[in-house]
Amino acid sequence: MTAVVVSANADAIDRAAAALLHGELVVMPTETVYGLAGDATNPRAVARIYAAKGRPQFNPLISHVCGLDDALKHAVLSPVAMRLAEAFWPGALTLVAQRRTESPIAELACAGLSSVALRAPAHPVAQALLAAVGRPLAAPSANRSGRLSPTHARHAAEDLGDDVALVLDAGPCAMGVESSVVAVDEAGRPVLLRPGAISREALEAVVGPLADPRGVDAPASPGMLTSHYAPRASVRLNAVDVRPGEAYLAFGPTPFAHALNLSPSRDLTEAAANLFAHLRALDATGAACIAVAPIPETGLGEAINDRLSRAAAAR
Ligand code: TXA
Ligand code: MG
Repeated sequence: MTAVVVSANADAIDRAAAALLHGELVVMPTETVYGLAGDATNPRAVARIYAAKGRPQFNPLISHVCGLDDALKHAVLSPVAMRLAEAFWPGALTLVAQRRTESPIAELACAGLSSVALRAPAHPVAQALLAAVGRPLAAPSANRSGRLSPTHARHAAEDLGDDVALVLDAGPCAMGVESSVVAVDEAGRPVLLRPGAISREALEAVVGPLADPRGVDAPASPGMLTSHYAPRASVRLNAVDVRPGEAYLAFGPTPFAHALNLSPSRDLTEAAANLFAHLRALDATGAACIAVAPIPETGLGEAINDRLSRAAAAR
């Protein structure tokens, strides 16, 4: 790892902005996970993101913007999308919308689709960086493709340190799972493409029932590959015992020694924040398998179970 990990103060943010304007990449904190950021309007910078991640080029990136005014330069937001943006931006929501032809966002960032994914992150460092650069920033999670997402600066540095100018360290991410990705289908209905840090319940309180991307005539979500977020160890779900050679990831009170606990008090928000770091730590023990306790499917449990089932999927 050669990149400089620096505390995300004003000076570091200026240096990061200068590097981004030169087409280099920077690891930036957001409230969900750390992102691998590049100038979304610079096709070479965007190509570097794909290369650094080892990411299939058909999987489009999220472009980060300061807020709604900025977003409207790049996309046409339907009435439903506008309601979601007003309710949750800045925050952990990504909207997939019709891209404007005059948007300077590189085609490659959208993987050639006619839609664009936009997010206005709430993290003050991300906001300061966006303001200093004055351009949208393409930023997938700052991990090698298919691996665990980074919730600490050092995780991102371990995976991608050789490929970035700077890693801005702002401590652990508050939410710990990626943003919720919502598109609007031809009929104007919201579709949950990826469950994430804003629960289904919270989204539905604003726009009513979310359609499921499977089955309906919904926009494709190229990023929802089954095997994803994979530790080196195999993963066994809904485990209520620990077998030889297994490390245990608990949720709630547990009788098992040497377990890591997502949340001793069964708090799903705390569990989401701990998820990726705990999986990384158990993976580092060298265990052949990580056995994971059952997690309820309510609230943030939907996003947690989504990530866990991908980690457990056949590779
Ligand atoms: O929390 C997050 O969302 C983090 C932080 C850094 O912002 N970013 C993140 O980006 O998770 P990434 O690239 O790992 O995930 C983007 C997701 C993928 O599932 C991708 O397929 C989907 O958004 N996506 C992006 N553009 C899309 C589009 N035009 N249509 C459908 N899905 C799209
Ligand atoms: Mg990712």
